[in-house]
Amino acid sequence: MKSRRMARAGLLGSAVAVLALLAIGGRARPGFGEPLHGLPPDLLARFQAGKTAFVAAEDVAGGLGPVFNDTACANCHDQGAIGGGNDRLETRYGQVLNGVFNPLTQFDGTLVHARGIGQFNGVNFVGEVVPPAANVVAGRRVNPLFGLGLVDAVPDQFLKDLAQFEQDFTPATAGRANVVTDVASGQPRVGRFGWKCQIGTVLTFAANAYQNEIGVTTPFFPNENCPQGDCALLVANPALTNPNDTKETPMMFADFITFLAPPPRRPLTRDAELGEVLFLGIGCADCHIPAMRTGSNLVAALDQVEFFPFSDFLLHDMGSLNDGIAQSGATGHEMRTAPLWGARIRTSFLHDGRARSLAAAILAHDGQGLPARTNFTNLPQRARAQLLEFLESL
Ligand code: HEC
Ligand code: HEC
Repeated sequence: MKSRRMARAGLLGSAVAVLALLAIGGRARPGFGEPLHGLPPDLLARFQAGKTAFVAAEDVAGGLGPVFNDTACANCHDQGAIGGGNDRLETRYGQVLNGVFNPLTQFDGTLVHARGIGQFNGVNFVGEVVPPAANVVAGRRVNPLFGLGLVDAVPDQFLKDLAQFEQDFTPATAGRANVVTDVASGQPRVGRFGWKCQIGTVLTFAANAYQNEIGVTTPFFPNENCPQGDCALLVANPALTNPNDTKETPMMFADFITFLAPPPRRPLTRDAELGEVLFLGIGCADCHIPAMRTGSNLVAALDQVEFFPFSDFLLHDMGSLNDGIAQSGATGHEMRTAPLWGARIRTSFLHDGRARSLAAAILAHDGQGLPARTNFTNLPQRARAQLLEFLESL
């Protein structure tokens, strides 16, 4: 037991040291929405071209729909800067019978595509609704994309080792690595993106969002969504080619996201420094892991870089704070530890935006997050304020 405690203290100790260095160093860091520092001109050009594609609105001639949620990535990802999150919610649904989750694919579940392109070839394409058969309905908030190239560049083995480390040293709050088959590469990969760790790479997420949110198919995801499950309607879909677009466009979205810098940290005030000690001490950092490192990477700005996401990108059983949706190997109870970097510019929190403040988000923790929440509520008022001030610095 002693050695376990020491190992844990060692990990937290080094995290404290790293955070202190970061605060003292005070190096100028890219702001929200800016590219990683030190990109060579060719990669900067790819970032810019990717950003242009990310902002550009699709139309019916370009493959929009027939059902979709919006016309451009940036229409949802724009809080703080292009590439940010948003308070907007999407709807997921399913049906649980005798404890078994049914995604209701016959109705085009689990994601509601809320808009349709209208009248074409004798069919009126309208937005989808939650079908009456659904008995689980959950909102999903738009995640910010700052720094996700760094997250993508973390080796699978690191996340697997981290899950084992948590199992050994903090078993009550230990997370699970969700291994998925990555569609873009066809390879197994530890899922780390989305509220359920449902996707393993930025490229696959981008291609999936292009098809699911905007309705534009590519060779990565070649099938149109059948409006409310009625695939017969697709013969009236006006999109000229199938798939609607090449692999290039999702690769451009992925360039933009991959080279997007992480949120800039604010200098620590005295109270925030004390709040950091509390954050590490009451168990928040057991899941919201402060520091991570990328593996070797051909891009220097992503090669062996230490970064500070405040997440383990693992799945945890959050009790009543779950969304009930089983997806890509994650059960209804499991949620990804939400990264806390950049939280200060968000205006709603948790997967369904139910919390309007950082404090409310902490007070909603349940399941594996309950002990830390109880520790938080047991802190004196001043200490709680210090912890929140620390979160505001990330
Ligand atoms: C209608 C709103 C909407 C549009 C349009 C949209 N997204 Fe998203 N995005 C979301 C939501 C909601 C999530 C969280 C999804 C989840 O986990 O279920 C998300 C999550 C993501 C993530 C994962 C972030 C993380 O923290 O793991 C990436 C990457 C992403 N979107 C990229 C894109 C790209 C690229 C486009 C354009 C092709 C796009 N999105 C268009 C709403 C949107
Ligand atoms: C057992 C793992 C675990 C522990 C311990 C934990 N959290 Fe979380 N935290 C999560 C998960 C998982 C989520 C996402 C929940 C959801 O799906 O809405 C989250 C979400 C959050 C959010 C909302 C972020 C956002 O963008 O929506 C905040 C703030 C937060 N945690 C702070 C804390 C603090 C402070 C502590 C310590 C008192 C703590 N957490 C302890 C797992 C944990």
